[in-house]
Amino acid sequence: MNRMKFCSLLTALVVALALLAGCGSETAMEQPAPDAGKAEAPADRDFGKLKGKKIMVAYYSRADENTGVGVIEKGNTEILAERIAEDLGADIYKIEPEKPYPKDYKEATDVAKEEKAKNARPAVKGEIPDLSGYDVIFLGYPIWWGDLPMTVYTFLEHESFRGKIIVPFCTHEGSGIGSTPETIVQLTRPLGLLPPLEMRGTKAQKERDEAKAEVDNWLEGLGKDDSL
Ligand SMILES: Cc1cc2nc3c(=O)[nH]c(=O)nc-3n(C[C@H](O)[C@H](O)[C@H](O)COP(=O)(O)O)c2cc1C
Repeated sequence: MNRMKFCSLLTALVVALALLAGCGSETAMEQPAPDAGKAEAPADRDFGKLKGKKIMVAYYSRADENTGVGVIEKGNTEILAERIAEDLGADIYKIEPEKPYPKDYKEATDVAKEEKAKNARPAVKGEIPDLSGYDVIFLGYPIWWGDLPMTVYTFLEHESFRGKIIVPFCTHEGSGIGSTPETIVQLTRPLGLLPPLEMRGTKAQKERDEAKAEVDNWLEGLGKDDSL
């Protein structure tokens, strides 16, 4: 056996041993509960014309204490964003404010109310990715005071959406998507806007299987849209 072959065999053996070691009880115990992890993207789904497009899922979502869900680790909108990205094999970007909102729900609503009253543009943390290579941008956000969170305004005004299709999706707790799609069009002047998804945050958070099925159905419908 020559030296190179021996080295590859040795590497394979080391990898195999490492994998075997990883199958121990510690790893097994770290497995997430069935509903807590990422569900497999359904193989039988056909996302039609969305296939082959370069897609970015950009979203804002706040964890911590919120209405109807208590203290959560993953925001309601984030659950939908991850499902969309998984289904479509899309890139994903979380819009994060430089200054996080308070963890307390009431305090967060107070800060958000003040920002909206001032028409503020809170700074976004880190580099905003270059969207120029994308055809379709899925834009996810919670409804705050009947509107987009002001940090989402910052993001939308930073980017050029010329020639792009935007697909809004939001979670809310009763007031619905309101006129946010119109606001998005005014701010970005995109090539087009596809029918949005709106869902109660409590459903996204607490009925994950149903929520994911709703996302999948919506995406299937979008895949047939003539404007794509
Ligand atoms: C600051 C703030 C303002 C909110 N305003 C509204 C509102 O005007 N209408 C509504 O239906 N829900 C409102 N909600 C509830 C959120 O829209 C809802 O819980 C959403 O699912 C949160 O998504 P997230 O976990 O992705 O941030 C508000 C929540 C917060 C924290």
